[in-house]
Amino acid sequence: MSVSLSEFNGHIAQGTTFRGSSNGRIVKSFFQRSLGPDEVAVQVTHSGVCGTDLHYMLQDMVLGHEAVGIVSAVGSACTLFKPGDRVGWGYEHYSCGFCTPCLTNEECHCLNAGFYGASDFDQGSFSNIGVWKQKWLFHIPEGIKSEDAAPLMCGGASCFSPLIEHCRPIDRVGIVGMGGLGHLAIQFAAKMGCEVVVFSGSESKRTDALALGASAFFNIQGVSDFSTLGITKPIDRLIVAAASLMDVSQFYPVLARKAIIIPLTATKETLAVPYYDTLFTGVKIIPSMLATRFTQTKMLEFADRHHIRPIIEKFPMTEAGIGAAIEKLKNGQIRYRAVLSWDF
Ligand SMILES: NC(=O)c1ccc[n+]([C@@H]2O[C@H](COP(=O)([O-])OP(=O)(O)OC[C@H]3O[C@@H](n4cnc5c(N)ncnc54)[C@H](OP(=O)(O)O)[C@@H]3O)[C@@H](O)[C@H]2O)c1
Ligand SMILES: [Zn+2]
Ligand SMILES: [Zn+2]
Repeated sequence: MSVSLSEFNGHIAQGTTFRGSSNGRIVKSFFQRSLGPDEVAVQVTHSGVCGTDLHYMLQDMVLGHEAVGIVSAVGSACTLFKPGDRVGWGYEHYSCGFCTPCLTNEECHCLNAGFYGASDFDQGSFSNIGVWKQKWLFHIPEGIKSEDAAPLMCGGASCFSPLIEHCRPIDRVGIVGMGGLGHLAIQFAAKMGCEVVVFSGSESKRTDALALGASAFFNIQGVSDFSTLGITKPIDRLIVAAASLMDVSQFYPVLARKAIIIPLTATKETLAVPYYDTLFTGVKIIPSMLATRFTQTKMLEFADRHHIRPIIEKFPMTEAGIGAAIEKLKNGQIRYRAVLSWDF
């Protein structure tokens, strides 16, 4: 399929975008904007489809937040990028740099942040154009193909961050839910030297989990008492990357004392925990959201160096292609990340 390149009239960037709508249909739209001094225009070539996109399908906003593309133009004050560079962006588009979270290395909790789904509704990675501040764009290492880099921009960064922050090579790390995030978390954790254990509701993923670096796979479909799973060595860290909030109390019988549960699931459900057991065992629950720019950059370097790549299923960047990817993702049929591409 041919790509209609974004065109520039002076500093005007324009291109095609794809939006959600109240009836769930994907709607093609047109984007046009002038380029600010610290902004970069990107011709998007690929986009991952993240589980979080499912929450925005009914909104009248441009979808997608796992972009990779080529810089087409830069504003007059840009110093970090030049036309022709291969770059990506993820869920966060802006952080102020002066609030307390920003000043304490917590820019994902910036009080003035620009996030997907909360601002900049006129652009996203389901498109062939993006105009973003240079600060939240990332160079893609030469060794990573664009179609493989796209899922790293949100999914990869978001599971790498808690692994770096909370997991040591001596830890037995449980990964719950083997989807886009989960299958990358297995690879990152294994390459970090952790012992990786997967909890999944899909028996059909067992072989892939072990091939990606897990040492054990537990099918939890229909299991209510996890002490019957046959786990003899307790789990030190539990990364929950399931699409829906799990009943984390089920995991308590297989957790080590002072274990850390790290929920990544994006949901408005209530997280209930057994308080006495939490007190008695010293289990901590520390949710994790996205990654700082430093961690995102290091994640890309780590993935490049250790040949960590998503397993992807490609779809064309069209209304029909996006619709098909979303439908499969909703039905739990993607192995393991859908990637939209203009050169399908
Ligand atoms: N915190 C963050 O920074 C961050 C960033 C990105 C995404 N997220 C969130 O992380 C979650 C996973 O995202 P993803 O892109 O990896 O999604 P995904 O590709 O759909 O994977 C989710 C996995 O969860 C399991 N699952 C499916 N339906 C389930 C259900 N009803 N209950 C429990 N588990 C279920 C499946 O794994 P099995 O077949 O192995 O059971 C599925 O592959 C989503 O909630 C997403 O919004 C959070
Ligand atoms: Zn801030
Ligand atoms: Zn995401």
